[in-house]
Amino acid sequence: MMRYAHIVGWGCYLPDRRVTNDELSRYVDTTDEWIYQRTGIRARHIAAPHETTATLAFEAAARALDVADLHPSQVELVIVATSTPEYMFPSTACKVQDYLGASHAGAFDLSAACSGFVYALQMASQSIATGAVRNAVVIGSETMSRVLDWQDRSTCVLFGDGAGAVVLKGSSVPGGVMATTLRSDGSGADLLSLPALYHNRVPISGAEYSTNGHHKNTVDMDGRQVYRFATNVIATSIQDVLKKAELTVDDIALIIPHQANTRIIETAAKKLKLPMEKFYLNVEHNGNTSAASIPLALCDAVRDGRLKPDDNVVFVGFGGGLTWGASVVKWDVTPPEVPLIDHEWRRVRYIMARGRSRLRRWQRRVSAAVTRPDENGQGPKR
Ligand code: UT7
Repeated sequence: MMRYAHIVGWGCYLPDRRVTNDELSRYVDTTDEWIYQRTGIRARHIAAPHETTATLAFEAAARALDVADLHPSQVELVIVATSTPEYMFPSTACKVQDYLGASHAGAFDLSAACSGFVYALQMASQSIATGAVRNAVVIGSETMSRVLDWQDRSTCVLFGDGAGAVVLKGSSVPGGVMATTLRSDGSGADLLSLPALYHNRVPISGAEYSTNGHHKNTVDMDGRQVYRFATNVIATSIQDVLKKAELTVDDIALIIPHQANTRIIETAAKKLKLPMEKFYLNVEHNGNTSAASIPLALCDAVRDGRLKPDDNVVFVGFGGGLTWGASVVKWDVTPPEVPLIDHEWRRVRYIMARGRSRLRRWQRRVSAAVTRPDENGQGPKR
């Protein structure tokens, strides 16, 4: 039987600290006027020292599960799209799985820069369509503030931190994620990059290392080239995905693009001969939050009443890789009322999940202490 992956929950989290352009101009040689005119950004949120990509992702996912009214133990797959994981491994998704107490879920991270959410949505919806899983939590989460060169005004003014999540659930009712196109072009890899932490430590012999030419572990971008690429691929991916879904732009109620720059969207809208009202923009408030930007904008669009049941919405992402892609989704849910008392009660279960996680860690330590390796060091022996 055909399975369709419907969005049944959504949730977002933004760190409390909001940094305006004026505040930034006290640390960097820039102005509110320059940033707003070139990008449409007025402010961004910056994670507190105790927050990580995983804690942001957890907050967004917990809210999305509340809306979906799905217990974490029922979740079968957690995907986190991110370029700012705390570790290369374990994945951010495993940490989120643990924080949620999603004890029956597989979990992995997905790296596709600012297109990550669209890529992850496709991976999850196909897993549902094939019957591999019944539901999935798809999260875009970033702490971009940790990977910026705060001396480089051409990049540090653009990005922000945050997380957004959706819950997908399988159903035999047609709808949900209807068509997706994913594309990439690695020949443009150098246009937007973030080197991995240890990639420049090439071992020579013993404890000696040489570097391979890369010295920075911060975001590097050729803004003009990325700008040109973005305006082209937004238009083509929307056209391609509509063709795949056998729809026209007139069938689309709203386009939610990756929130990088208002001017990019204006240029793409002109190319498509579409009014700007067809596009949802919140880059003014959040800056560019990379993989988190589309689900963050989705939450705001739902809050603003921009999506009604049976509306078709297009998500379109573009960014480092180079990667780009678009999805057409039939929006078939009315936002439910989540009573506060229920919400508070649901929080208790996350506290309990952390307690169970600590207990498992403690049990592992005790078990390691009472077992010892055999004489050849081959493995545990009682
Ligand atoms: O999410 C991934 C996708 N990323 C993007 O979509 C980013 C795409 N690119 C862009 O949005 C734009 O290229 C930027 C907003 C990054 C830059 O805008 P631009 O109009 O392309 O500016 P530019 O880089 O050509 O720089 C113009 C001038 C330069 O000064 P000179 O050489 O003309 O004297 C820069 O030094 O603006 C200067 N500048 C700044 N001035 C004040 C660069 N950054 C700043 C700044 N404040 N923050």
